[in-house]
Amino acid sequence: MDKKTASDNNEKSRIWDLPTRCFHWVLAICFVGAVVSGDNGFMQVHLIFGISIFTLVLFRLMWGFCGSDSSKFKKFLPKAKDIWCCLINIRQKNKPHIGHDALGGFATCVMVVMLFVTPALGMFANDDILFEGPLAELVSQQASNYLSFLHEIAAKATLILIGVHIAAVLFYWSYKKDNIITPMITGRKALPPLLKKQASQMRFVSSKIAIMCLIGAMVIAGIILV
Ligand code: HEM
Repeated sequence: MDKKTASDNNEKSRIWDLPTRCFHWVLAICFVGAVVSGDNGFMQVHLIFGISIFTLVLFRLMWGFCGSDSSKFKKFLPKAKDIWCCLINIRQKNKPHIGHDALGGFATCVMVVMLFVTPALGMFANDDILFEGPLAELVSQQASNYLSFLHEIAAKATLILIGVHIAAVLFYWSYKKDNIITPMITGRKALPPLLKKQASQMRFVSSKIAIMCLIGAMVIAGIILV
């Protein structure tokens, strides 16, 4: 009996679905690819990574409405009061949570917006030499130059944001003793009994819906870019 209780307590709860985890790690790879190719002047490769990021974020926007509970925007869009509360308790250790806490929810929203805006600006940009984004023809040369400037600023801001994101995740792990990295890989997290009950009531949406969202995102990106 005791043994069963112990193993029940050690059992990890499912908190992230597969589509959100795949989105995260494919996005991370595409982001690194876009930064490295852009910095080294491999513009065709940069374009492919940029379009991939744009499509992934379109997918995430749809998944934020029809995906599983922990990925839904309405479940983690934080109130200013909750973000403040999270900030003043930032040094509090061993306080596990399901999905994003208020700060994580806020960071996710800002990252998603920036990861949408940056490639969107890039579509209209040019590199002053041979390369033009797929939508640059739709605007004047002067407008394209200005949008190229904005694309660079947005890319720098996004890079800083992602740097802060990785630093925050490491801070949660090393200082707050809250390992949020493994759940983003396995989807599962060890939780105290109360949160465990909450996690068991969470609704997970089938990956088939995620595939439909991805196809929808690819079609929208295709219509915009072709
Ligand atoms: C080694 C690198 C990285 C690690 C360890 C990491 C880890 C994580 C973790 C643990 C979360 C969940 C945070 C929470 O519980 O609130 C998360 C969310 C997120 N990360 Fe990362 N991350 C990494 C790199 C990146 C990169 C490069 C990007 C962007 C291009 C990125 C974008 C995001 C986004 C958008 C979310 C929100 C996920 C969602 O709700 O869909 N991450 N990351």
